[in-house]
Amino acid sequence: MDLSKFLAPTLMDAPCYKLLKTDCEIKLDQNESPFDWPEEVKEKTLHNLKSEPWQKYPEPFDESLNQKLASYVGVQPEQIITGAGSNYLITILMNCLCRHLRGKAIIAEPSFPLYALHARYESMSYEIWPQENFEYDISNLPVIPDHSVIIFASPNNPAGNVLKSEDLEQLLNEHPTSIIVADEAYYEFNDDSYIELFKKHQNLIIMRTLSKTLSSAAIRFGYILCHEDIKNQLLKMRLPFILNKFTLASIHALLDSPKAMKTMLTNAKKLVEWREKLHQELVELSKEHPFKTYPSKANFLLLQLSDNLQKTMLHSHLIENSIIVRDVSKGRGLEGCLRISISTPHANEKLLKNIQSFFKK
Ligand SMILES: Cc1ncc(COP(=O)(O)O)c(C=O)c1O
Repeated sequence: MDLSKFLAPTLMDAPCYKLLKTDCEIKLDQNESPFDWPEEVKEKTLHNLKSEPWQKYPEPFDESLNQKLASYVGVQPEQIITGAGSNYLITILMNCLCRHLRGKAIIAEPSFPLYALHARYESMSYEIWPQENFEYDISNLPVIPDHSVIIFASPNNPAGNVLKSEDLEQLLNEHPTSIIVADEAYYEFNDDSYIELFKKHQNLIIMRTLSKTLSSAAIRFGYILCHEDIKNQLLKMRLPFILNKFTLASIHALLDSPKAMKTMLTNAKKLVEWREKLHQELVELSKEHPFKTYPSKANFLLLQLSDNLQKTMLHSHLIENSIIVRDVSKGRGLEGCLRISISTPHANEKLLKNIQSFFKK
């Protein structure tokens, strides 16, 4: 069926978000946590869910959830918008903020592909904030007219690089009429959150998810922190009843359990240790073999092979050995790149051994 007469070329030509499905035993392709939820919190969730009437809609705006989240994050409940994962929140932000801009939409690249993909799906034009060697440099930003929106992630996906708080503060001060959106999906793996800047600057929006550090990818829950005036506009785009009863019951059970929250944050610290160990081991290996690895502040590492052929061969070699990592080589400046999620010492060790055996072949 020829839809080209109905739909804009920007949508028709843009790719879908795709994920390779395999039955590999070790899954290092989606930056998921290797730690499941504590059994008692799962039980509490199921208990809460069972006592709910399933024929009734869920709470459209769960105020008590916003209050619990606000005290965890250290902001006011009025500054929070919840949603079904940050993927969903990105679509709200793009649709509400970037569609009718008087300035420019500026998107960091390489970064999480959904920002640019959604701009393309919605036929929005945008400019790129490029990086060299996977490092943010604010002097590389394009000209920023008044009333622009800048979107970036820190720690960034797929390289794990960060924009230092002092650089973001400089940007916020220099561009008070523009809005800056910082995606902090991985902030708990880093030691430099923007929350203090958020309290001082009305033009900063922070986006977060519970999928990564808080081991909640299955639950689909994320949140936006923003000024109340921005919230009132963004809420128009948020679909009613977007958080279903399973999501609500689980997040309440988790936030009600300081013990579970503590365990999860301790687990995140373990992942940071394991990330540093694997990074060091890969740096050593790269002294003898033609690939590079980059320092990361998230729960993944980027590996860059000498070209795409080498990358495909390593990717296939790992799959043959039941390890799946993410091929990110199609992104801007990512030729030859694979992204590896940090997992347990056993999985990380198996990965390392298989990278070694690939180069010895
Ligand atoms: C930078 C970044 N933002 C957002 C997301 C999406 O997270 P969620 O699971 O909350 O949709 C991801 C997922 O990989 C990510 O890497």
